[in-house]
Amino acid sequence: MENKREILKVVDLQKKFHKLEVLKGISTTFHENEVVSIIGPSGGGKSTFLRCLNLLEQPTSGQILFDGTDICTIKGKAIDHCRQRMGMVFQQFNLFNNMNVLKNITLAPVHVALQDLRKTRRKNFFTRIANVFRSKEKKRPLVPLQTSKKQIVADAEQNAMRLLGRIGLADKAKVYPSPSRADSASALPSSARSP
Ligand SMILES: Nc1ncnc2c1ncn2[C@@H]1O[C@H](COP(=O)(O)OP(=O)(O)OP(=O)(O)O)[C@@H](O)[C@H]1O
Ligand SMILES: [Mg+2]
Repeated sequence: MENKREILKVVDLQKKFHKLEVLKGISTTFHENEVVSIIGPSGGGKSTFLRCLNLLEQPTSGQILFDGTDICTIKGKAIDHCRQRMGMVFQQFNLFNNMNVLKNITLAPVHVALQDLRKTRRKNFFTRIANVFRSKEKKRPLVPLQTSKKQIVADAEQNAMRLLGRIGLADKAKVYPSPSRADSASALPSSARSP
């Protein structure tokens, strides 16, 4: 694996829930295009480990280097930005069987970005109305719209394809997750269905 690019490097990761020590100093590295299965007994800490990697749990100590940055030290918007560059598929009922892999992956980011776009449009709408009653010097500027629905969908799809490509599954983008659909058995590896 030495010639492959490191994507995630975990160094001495520890996670405690009060007195319960779940992760006791995990160190490992994940490389580009690598498929890794995490196995262990129930309650062994698999989900806790995965949740830490995505900062759904704040590690107690240690480092998680994602593309070289220690994400344990980042906060606020930087965490959102980091999560946008990671993918996580939750197990069981969280995939829509009537949507292909690409649509399943892009659904949430498109929804969130469209909400922001609508919020900005709504704000501009009310600013425009209020400006009608304001004197010339007191008129407020509109928030510039830097994107469109088409662009949001295109960006989400591009990001999803990049993420799929990273784990060698770009050719599965149009596959449906339901077992009743053709070619679905290999739509996602069981290791990708996590916590
Ligand atoms: N938020 C939490 N607060 C307190 N304890 C927790 C919390 N989340 C997990 N734990 C405990 O941490 C331990 C590891 O749980 P975790 O869910 O990571 O195990 P797992 O390996 O994913 O198990 P399974 O195979 O059953 O999914 C368990 O003892 C669990 O009760
Ligand atoms: Mg689990």
